[in-house]
Amino acid sequence: MKLVSKSEKETIAIGEKLGRLLKKGSLIALNGDLACGKTVLTKGIGKALNVKEVINSPTFTILKIYEGDLTLYHIDAYRLYENPYDLGFEEYRDSGIMVIEWFDYVKDNFDDEYLEINMRYIDDTTREMEFISHGKEYDAIVKEMM
Ligand SMILES: Nc1ncnc2c1ncn2[C@@H]1O[C@H](COP(=O)(O)OP(=O)(O)O)[C@@H](O)[C@H]1O
Ligand SMILES: [Mg+2]
Repeated sequence: MKLVSKSEKETIAIGEKLGRLLKKGSLIALNGDLACGKTVLTKGIGKALNVKEVINSPTFTILKIYEGDLTLYHIDAYRLYENPYDLGFEEYRDSGIMVIEWFDYVKDNFDDEYLEINMRYIDDTTREMEFISHGKEYDAIVKEMM
């Protein structure tokens, strides 16, 4: 299933809609090049969870924890490329919502139940998002997002 966003605002709205469908233990796996909107989508998810703190992508932080209606674990795995170690992030998973940017880099540390979103840069203001469900609970979410 694919969605097209024509603006940053629209991507935030998509994230917000998605965020409302998530529950404790949900894992959102984001892939796509730099500047394709992974962090912007995460901001929308945070909005749905009533996170008040500003969600950003700090240069040297791999895991950021935000408190909202549920705890949001935001991981940017960019610097973990070819990292052979399991950093134990999966242990947080059941305590809240987990969103991982550059998921492919850490995929081996997670089981096979997650919602994969592959983001693609089309032009300056347009992004495409492909939703792929891995696991029954995510089938329903993808359907709702259509
Ligand atoms: N439709 C869109 N959706 C998301 N971001 C967009 C869109 N159009 C332009 N942008 C811009 O693209 C950039 C996306 O940045 P970011 O979310 O940090 O990317 P990533 O986390 O994937 O590296 C932002 O500067 C944002 O303003
Ligand atoms: Mg980012």
